[in-house]
Amino acid sequence: MKKDKIEFYDLEQSKTEFLFESDAEKVALKEAAKPKRPKVYKKIIRNSVVLSVLLVCAFVGFNSSQSNKLFKLNASLISNSSNNKQTEEKMNEASEKLETINENNKKYEIIINKANPITEAELKNYEQVEVLDNAITGVKIEKETYKNYLKLKENLLQRGYFINIRNGFRSFSESEEIYNSYKNTYGEDYAEKYVAKPGVSEHNTGMAFDFIITQDKTSLKTNYQSDEYRYLENIAYLYGFIIRYPKGKESVTGYEYEPWHLRYVGEELAKYLTKNNLTLEEYYETKE
Ligand code: DAL
Ligand code: ZN
Repeated sequence: MKKDKIEFYDLEQSKTEFLFESDAEKVALKEAAKPKRPKVYKKIIRNSVVLSVLLVCAFVGFNSSQSNKLFKLNASLISNSSNNKQTEEKMNEASEKLETINENNKKYEIIINKANPITEAELKNYEQVEVLDNAITGVKIEKETYKNYLKLKENLLQRGYFINIRNGFRSFSESEEIYNSYKNTYGEDYAEKYVAKPGVSEHNTGMAFDFIITQDKTSLKTNYQSDEYRYLENIAYLYGFIIRYPKGKESVTGYEYEPWHLRYVGEELAKYLTKNNLTLEEYYETKE
């Protein structure tokens, strides 16, 4: 396939991009999206905003259940992409075919999917540490994953690319909250395609995280057709990372394409999977 013919992921089609935004993340994203205005206008704008907020509050009243919605999605984007019946059927089939294969796998090589859950007790094997110097505060990931992430980050910095983590470790209760929020809002079928329940989410181990890569330090929005994204895709394996839910493998992983989700599996396995274009599911299938 010629390089210019390669089909890139269309950010505008993305729904899950907006999944899992924590309050801190929302604030950071909002700040980054603000246009820089001359100082003289700032006061006027601030006053108008305060006035508008007061008016809105007076009309609507404080409906806290609405303002508390953590996980907002763009409804039009959802209806656009929930049409793909074929992919959906294949993904359901894939979920049914998954086998339990984890027993003897190493700490960083384990497969976590709908057929291979991890227990809350096992999470003790994974020490979580805070990601420092990150645009979003309070994010944690697994210790060894972090060490390698820092090396990856350094490599990217050398090229003038900035990586930040939107979210990493999720407790079982956080996973439950996110899953239920999606199920209640968009229905079970939808939630199953995009969100993993507690125990079957890689985020529960902190070995997976959702990242943002940019050339503009103040931006928190990835362009998946950019040089920086392409570069990261090509070098991630050097530090033990894989794009866990690749495009075209939805029927194998059981999840939609998630270009922002990196999983640490260790250098050796990451290299093998990347060079052979394999997902963890395919790797264990051929290994058995
Ligand atoms: N979005 C991935 C599947 C997760 O929730 O872990
Ligand atoms: Zn993720």
